[in-house]
Amino acid sequence: MYSEKVMEHYMMPRNAWHMADADGVACEFDAECGDKFTMFIRVSGDYICDVSFLGYGCGAAIASGSMTTMLAKGKSIAEALKLTEEDVIAALGGLPDEKRHCPELSVSALHLAILDYLAKQGRSAKGYLS
Ligand code: FES
Repeated sequence: MYSEKVMEHYMMPRNAWHMADADGVACEFDAECGDKFTMFIRVSGDYICDVSFLGYGCGAAIASGSMTTMLAKGKSIAEALKLTEEDVIAALGGLPDEKRHCPELSVSALHLAILDYLAKQGRSAKGYLS
């Protein structure tokens, strides 16, 4: 049912730790399945220099969280805001149809963590979203 890549990231999630001194933090919750994610980012010079997550969810959600952090690390804020669920699914080698919604949690939490960072800086996301 799951690709080898999904199983690998589910069994050994990357960057799954609590970042106490994060520059941006956000929690996201799926009211339908009850899964939840917290995403932490550290930013340097408009680049995401570190990113981590804590998640409670299905195997696809955990693998997606892990892959989301890997795809986001080293990206500029503008690039990370353009990261999509489809990017995560492709990097994981696909997800079963009934699990294709699962990356929404981690990608949305990443985007919200970036917005949290920008808000703390007194900046808006407007210029990044065009
Ligand atoms: Fe809830 Fe996968 S079933 S995120």
